[in-house]
Amino acid sequence: MFDIIRQLEERRARARAGGGKKRVESQHARGKLTARERIDLLLDPESFEEWDMFVEHRSTDFGMDKSHIPGDGVVTGHGTINGRTVFVYSQDFTVFGGSLSETHAEKICKIMDQAMKVGAPVIGLNDSGGARIQEGVSSLAGYAEVFARNVEASGVVPQISMIMGPCAGGAVYSPATTDFVFMVKDTSYMFVTGPDVVKTVTHEDVTQEELGGATTHTTKSGVSDMAFETDIDALEQLRRFMDFLPASNLEYPPVIPTDDPPNRQEPSLDSLVPENPNEPYDVKELIVKLLDESDFFELQPDYAKNIIIGYGRMEGSTVGIVANQPMVLAGCLDIDASVKAARFIRFCDCFNIPIVMLVDVPGFLPGTQQEYAGLIRHGAKLLFAFAEATVPKVTVITRKAYGGAYIVMGSKHLRGDVNYAWPSAEIAVMGSKGAVEIIFRQDLDDAEKIKEREQEYQDQFANPFRVGARGYIDDVIMPHNTRWRIIRSLRMLKTKKQELPWKKHGNIPL
Ligand code: HXC
Repeated sequence: MFDIIRQLEERRARARAGGGKKRVESQHARGKLTARERIDLLLDPESFEEWDMFVEHRSTDFGMDKSHIPGDGVVTGHGTINGRTVFVYSQDFTVFGGSLSETHAEKICKIMDQAMKVGAPVIGLNDSGGARIQEGVSSLAGYAEVFARNVEASGVVPQISMIMGPCAGGAVYSPATTDFVFMVKDTSYMFVTGPDVVKTVTHEDVTQEELGGATTHTTKSGVSDMAFETDIDALEQLRRFMDFLPASNLEYPPVIPTDDPPNRQEPSLDSLVPENPNEPYDVKELIVKLLDESDFFELQPDYAKNIIIGYGRMEGSTVGIVANQPMVLAGCLDIDASVKAARFIRFCDCFNIPIVMLVDVPGFLPGTQQEYAGLIRHGAKLLFAFAEATVPKVTVITRKAYGGAYIVMGSKHLRGDVNYAWPSAEIAVMGSKGAVEIIFRQDLDDAEKIKEREQEYQDQFANPFRVGARGYIDDVIMPHNTRWRIIRSLRMLKTKKQELPWKKHGNIPL
């Protein structure tokens, strides 16, 4: 018996040592933590239950039969974050470069299957050289098994990918099918084909960082939701983020007690919207003043900045915020903004998170670049996602709500539950200048007349009452009271039930 216990301890020690002291030092020298150090920071102290510590690869080619490291390059198991169960896998770059073998994949699949059975999120900490080259197609099959599970789990349990090292080739498609992709600055990168292949095929000279670093994916491609400075920062923020999410689609997010009064008034909001309708203002000021303790977890803050998305809480419960940002492109909807908001809304709808839309939108962005790139199809995604969502939906129009963008941004007609407008709201087919130029084209030479017509149009539509008279908004509310009015609506909507007709799935314009 003592002998077995000693063996057990030895085996555990070997597994914990990963790829050995030298490789661990090299990992640290790059500013990266090891797979186990990351898990320690992510999970509550002493909560990690490790599985499959003794799993070894079955490969014999290329001398692999002489090289076995228990755990096979990935640490898997479950633990808790602030007391709630999560499943986690953490790739160990010190063991065969964290590369994915058949058995490495089996370990990941095992925890994914269990997460689905118990209804708990799956977090992947990715740090891998990709498919284990010595194993050939077996490792590709392993990836495919992971992908299939990612797709099956989509909309059932939240899936989060934290990219903490290389993630290249087809390996990027597992994170891409998960709900959120986070990265660590300077040490992580994602691309389908690396700089060398790019050079051969397109003759472009590009570094790894330029091609697929955190800055690229948080500003240009929108692949990543957020980038963090260091491993430690990333894992701390991930713990905070998980508190906004439910464990599965059958649950609600946790309610976090707060001392912030639900009826807190914000007099400063009464002067947030400038007198001049063309003057921008920062909608973030409104967002943080609405939320409990001003705690806002913004996603994709550096991508498609003309729309803001993220999570906060009202009366302790998570809400998803979607807000036009008048500071960027006057808050116009373009392709990137539409897709950014649509995907966010779909996550909220999958996971029982009410949606609050804050609207100040002059329309869709005009231009050949947008039209050629498919603004019609991509803009329709936002419309589709909002109309399809059955979670509680509250909309506040702060200023402009023009044309198609009025409809798409949470209108009553697309099944908004509660639609409010501030007194400064202007709801019309378009702005008065554009409208007059079309309907009074014959008077264009007469500046005086045009000015009068513009004023007439402005008087008719630049207020919330025309729309109020039709019941398209439920009330005109005072800006300082917005938090309280939304909270009262969300209270009422807690028991909302809405079923869509049976279908296998809709056909969102992808
Ligand atoms: C086996 C690998 C490996 C891999 C790295 N290693 N990648 N072993 N399979 N894919 C091993 C190295 O041999 C080395 O072992 C150790 O990991 C560290 O690697 P280094 O190259 O020394 O590290 P570094 O200089 O930091 O470079 C990291 C790297 C590079 C950029 C990731 O290793 C690399 O380019 N690897 C190959 C990447 C790749 O082409 N993968 C396949 C992609 S195709 P020792 O013993 O020396 O420490 C793919 C398809 C997926 O993934 C398809 C899904 C459908």
